Amino acid sequence: MRDQADKLRQIIDNLKEKQINNQENLPAASPKKNARVITITSGKGGVGKTNITINLAIALSELGLRVAILDADFGLANIDVLFGIVPKNTLVDVVYGRKNILEVLSDGPKNIKFISGGSGVEELVKLDKTQVEKFVENIGLLDKLSDVILIDTAAGLSDNVMSFVMAADEVLLITTPEPTSITDAYALIKMVAHRDKDKIIKVIVNRADSAAEANDLLTKLSVVAEKFLSIKLSPLGYILQDDSVSKAVKMQQPFTMSFPKSQASRLIKEISRKLAEISREKLTNDNNGIKGFVSRLLGFINT
Ligand SMILES: Nc1ncnc2c1ncn2[C@@H]1O[C@H](COP(=O)(O)OP(=O)(O)OP(=O)(O)O)[C@@H](O)[C@H]1O
Ligand SMILES: [Mg+2]
Repeated sequence: MRDQADKLRQIIDNLKEKQINNQENLPAASPKKNARVITITSGKGGVGKTNITINLAIALSELGLRVAILDADFGLANIDVLFGIVPKNTLVDVVYGRKNILEVLSDGPKNIKFISGGSGVEELVKLDKTQVEKFVENIGLLDKLSDVILIDTAAGLSDNVMSFVMAADEVLLITTPEPTSITDAYALIKMVAHRDKDKIIKVIVNRADSAAEANDLLTKLSVVAEKFLSIKLSPLGYILQDDSVSKAVKMQQPFTMSFPKSQASRLIKEISRKLAEISREKLTNDNNGIKGFVSRLLGFINT
């Protein structure tokens, strides 16, 4: 298994080199930037990951960024339900070469593209070398089409979810102030810390009753994680408990669109500005992009 994983990584590294060599022929003014791959996760389920993914996507898009969402919650098709759109194809069609990546991209609101993962990742391990190459080339197009790729995961600490967390350039952890949610978030942070203490986990508190409650939790979580797990968290912000979120869910619309003036919309916009700021600070691009993500993912799921 280890051999196979090494082989796959090598194939993908070769592809990346080819891409870099090609770039040398490009004019200096148009450096190729890889997309930022951000996995959105939580320990406990139902804490607001999917709603945050969608509305963050909209807020980032309004800031002028090109955003794609990958729905990696294979059990339940969440994103499409909240967008009120049913995608015809899934990532599985790309894995098996039946479709190219452009054919499985659905159009969401505000120019957002989204892809339904299906059981795409599990299928990936069954491919041979040529099929992997083709898949990686294909999905690599997403780096050219998007500035940010948000990956919405299933809840829990399964191997699959952990692979998505560890393979991403950036991790966004959602928790609510409920003790069960905090305990599960801490369990996830612990698992990440055991694998890579340098991984930066950005944290959002959702459904807080007040700014003070949220900020207090963000501080406590950071202190405890640093003290006991030697990992640095990066508090990103909070969203208050807000009825417009559940109202919008019932309307199958993102709350930022149905209730743009709500507290939740205002706060998610604040969070999106912080996230976008981080990307602007990085003058040289050190993102691994979607190709790097898939490369690492294959390594994890093969070992
Ligand atoms: N800030 C909020 N204020 C009020 N209700 C909220 C808020 N955030 C989420 N909710 C409620 O929680 C529900 C679950 O949210 P969501 O589906 O985004 O969670 P999830 O973490 O993606 O769940 P799962 O783990 O099942 O994928 C929403 O349908 C909504 O009713
Ligand atoms: Mg969800």
